[in-house]
Amino acid sequence: MSESVQSVRGMNDLLPPDSAKWRFFEQRCQAVFERHGYDEIRTPVLEHTALFARGIGEATDIVEKEMYTFQDRKQRSLTMRPEMTASCVRAYIEHAIGKREPVTRWYYSGPMFRYERMQTGRYRQFYQIGVECFGVAEPTVEAEQVAMLVDLYTGLGVPSLSTRVNSVGGAADRPRYRQALLAYLEPRAAELCADCQRRLATNPLRVLDCKVDTGSPVLAGAPRVLDHLTELSRARFDAACQALTDLGVAFQIEPRLVRGLDYYTGLVFEIQSSAPALGSQSALVGGGRYDELVESMGGPPTPAVGFALGVERGILALPGAADTFSPRPDLFLAAIGEAARRRALVLAHGLRGAGLRVDLEHRAVGVKAQLKRADKLRARASLVLGDDELASGRAKLRDMTSGAEREVALADLAVELASPPPASP
Ligand code: HAM
Repeated sequence: MSESVQSVRGMNDLLPPDSAKWRFFEQRCQAVFERHGYDEIRTPVLEHTALFARGIGEATDIVEKEMYTFQDRKQRSLTMRPEMTASCVRAYIEHAIGKREPVTRWYYSGPMFRYERMQTGRYRQFYQIGVECFGVAEPTVEAEQVAMLVDLYTGLGVPSLSTRVNSVGGAADRPRYRQALLAYLEPRAAELCADCQRRLATNPLRVLDCKVDTGSPVLAGAPRVLDHLTELSRARFDAACQALTDLGVAFQIEPRLVRGLDYYTGLVFEIQSSAPALGSQSALVGGGRYDELVESMGGPPTPAVGFALGVERGILALPGAADTFSPRPDLFLAAIGEAARRRALVLAHGLRGAGLRVDLEHRAVGVKAQLKRADKLRARASLVLGDDELASGRAKLRDMTSGAEREVALADLAVELASPPPASP
């Protein structure tokens, strides 16, 4: 026998009934984001590598180690998107969206690719749903986004949520902070991992995001960005926190939160859940303000804020067995004999045309097996068609929850199914 081909490590198939739980989650996100004024954007999975190198930052883990990059047939370097913010910024600039409207609110959903070490909740192809808001400098937008997310997860019943915020500051804050950080880290360079020693020269802020020495006392004692913000940045951070409080969001200020991408300039946030199914990958969402990215990518100066949530992690934390999310058939049509099967096919076709969800058995199997399947599918009602039913044009419609039966005319099935079930016996 020839060896079968397996899926690529870290890239998973999504099968029913899990897909039903995913769809439920995705639809909830979409509904909530649309209620807040976000419209959908779709961008290509492939982009020029330079977009991510410049957008996310050359010295980040994502760009240094995790991108799926290859040359196409014309030797152009392309990368499978590791995130969507850079793509949204590219699209925003490319289509001159800022000239069309002062404020743009986009949401997106789709697969991202990062060559990461795999574990529960961390994959190489994973799905994100996110939003980006362009054109609003007021720090109330970030608070609005965080409150929207907390409501979303709370409404979904995701347990043990915590929201952490920090400010990483922008161009005006960086030189002062960089100086303080270098003054602290350089004498301690020998205690840092090899990557971080290198990053001291390229981008010292990234040292705070070290994945190797997460518990390092050197990093724990490092100066905090919050203590080195300009007055304006501090005021904006305080205003965002005040808006969060106004919106009733519980949050903690986490001075060590720097996020793994270079483009942030102000408030950054993460929402975590301690749901055991998440293992160590407790971050459900990450985001923040990035007021300098659009301009640095060649666009007009444009303030922006956004976040992305991990779908796999959302699903892991979402209570409820996957099969309870599958839509239930309104009717399962069982048939005994060739003539009944042919009639069932036509009946089902008509009922589906009337908007009903109908399942039936095409194979010549016994009625018991067919009803077992109706049960498994959690059909609301079932009906058995045999010679008698064909002759009389009437059959017993069985409510699968209560077991109650009532005789109905086959011609009236659509109306009968739409009417409330009979009272239980
Ligand atoms: P990020 O923190 O890299 O931010 O990713 C956001 C979320 O995506 C994480 O909190 C996590 O739930 C999920 N995620 C990330 N990597 C993986 C993985 N390998 N496997 C499974 N889930 C993962 C961003 O991507 C930014 N673009 C967010 C943003 C939007 N900031 C501003 N706008």
